[in-house]
Amino acid sequence: MITVKSLSKSFGRRTLWSDLNLTVPGGQMLAVTGPSGAGKSTLLNCVGLLESPTSGQILYEDVDITRFGRRAGRRFRRDVLGYLFQSYALVENATVADNLEIAVTARRDRRSRYHDALERVGLTGRGKEKVHHLSGGEQQRVALARLLVKRPSLVLADEPTAALDSDNAAMVLDTLRGMSDAGCTVIIATHSYYIHGRCDATFEIGAPRHGT
Ligand SMILES: Nc1ncnc2c1ncn2[C@@H]1O[C@H](COP(=O)(O)OP(=O)(O)OP(=O)(O)O)[C@@H](O)[C@H]1O
Ligand SMILES: [Mg+2]
Repeated sequence: MITVKSLSKSFGRRTLWSDLNLTVPGGQMLAVTGPSGAGKSTLLNCVGLLESPTSGQILYEDVDITRFGRRAGRRFRRDVLGYLFQSYALVENATVADNLEIAVTARRDRRSRYHDALERVGLTGRGKEKVHHLSGGEQQRVALARLLVKRPSLVLADEPTAALDSDNAAMVLDTLRGMSDAGCTVIIATHSYYIHGRCDATFEIGAPRHGT
């Protein structure tokens, strides 16, 4: 479970949001919506420890992750978190297999996980290809396979289907839905009504108030 308490974020004198409160039960799939610039990506980045909020708390299983030091933060990212971005966030000059290895270093069952994941995203036999030779939809499927291999407890997805055709978008959503049904908490920042419809709940962030 994620509990966001009285969270605020300012860039310089500009307050993006203040007193944001949100509870995401374990296994829920939540859509975060709101106009462009409302701070959806920033909220995901705060939960993913890529940015720090200005004040407030983010509790994961009752522990305030905003107070994590470097080591605890690294452990949280390694053991709990999975990311999915519009821009895939793959190592483009490496192979599909190498990108999946990144998710599973030091896991004994990695071979079977790896083959299962590639099969589930329709990339069986493509492991040796360089990622930058793949299409956008295929690259997002590699990112998805990386999540399937890693099996995180919390997935943060920022506009994960924005650059995809409807077939690839459906595969992304089906996979995230499956992970959520298996107990993984999934938070998706999105403008897509298709995604809203497949989530369990929606959290809307209003437009930022200028000058406050
Ligand atoms: N590091 C930063 N420094 C200054 N301003 C920033 C920084 N990061 C984000 N912002 C500002 O915060 C606001 C919210 O950005 P954010 O990317 O979170 O919005 P968003 O809701 O995800 O928008 P979109 O729907 O377009 O993706 C924007 O006005 C952006 O310029
Ligand atoms: Mg965004």
